[in-house]
Amino acid sequence: MRDPADAADLLQWYDRHARDLPWRVGPSARAKGIAPDPYRIWLSEIMLQQTTVAAVKDYFRLFTERWPTVDALAAAPDAEVMAAWAGLGYYARARNLLKCARVVAEETGGVFPADHDVLLTLPGVGPYTAAAISAIAFDVPRVVVDGNVERVMARLHDEHTPLPAAKPILTAYAAALTPNARPGDYAQAVMDLGATICTPKRPACGLCPWRTSCAAWANGTAAELPKKAPK
Ligand code: ADE
Repeated sequence: MRDPADAADLLQWYDRHARDLPWRVGPSARAKGIAPDPYRIWLSEIMLQQTTVAAVKDYFRLFTERWPTVDALAAAPDAEVMAAWAGLGYYARARNLLKCARVVAEETGGVFPADHDVLLTLPGVGPYTAAAISAIAFDVPRVVVDGNVERVMARLHDEHTPLPAAKPILTAYAAALTPNARPGDYAQAVMDLGATICTPKRPACGLCPWRTSCAAWANGTAAELPKKAPK
């Protein structure tokens, strides 16, 4: 019998192996009551929408040094922000970034809304980003599903339905695992697991805290999951 996958096992792993990322409040700081700045979480999530963590880090540092608050960003001339964004690509993101900053600065006094449904009304904030901000910035148990999480869930359950048809199935698996305790750390822990252990190629199953719960590990199928429908 496999053990059921348990959020607590992953959180224990995250306590030791969390990546040090410039927008992140790590697990030990969070445990001391240090809360993340929603502006920094929002900015990182927008930058990470179509760009890798490695590419985002320097842009994130540059943006937050130059514009440390949403009010500062909202007041920046469009051309300066677009020039600072150059290289990140997908320029609609930068235009929405400025629109969103100005809405938050002008309509909610520079304070990011904590309510998921209000977050969804902001320019450039879709269901994934609203869930990620709710979980990471406000520690609300929202189900956060990106490509990393899809891969981890497909493997845990040895789910062979191809993407994109598998999305609702994988989301249901993710929902069943999302804990009420430490949901912000948990959301980041699954992403880190997917990025560092449960990688697309040659996953490091021997180091995985969920190995004994993983159906793909048991069946030797991890490297072939998730399946993708032919284009
Ligand atoms: N990818 C998207 N959001 C992320 C985050 N907060 N940490 C790491 N990778 C991510």
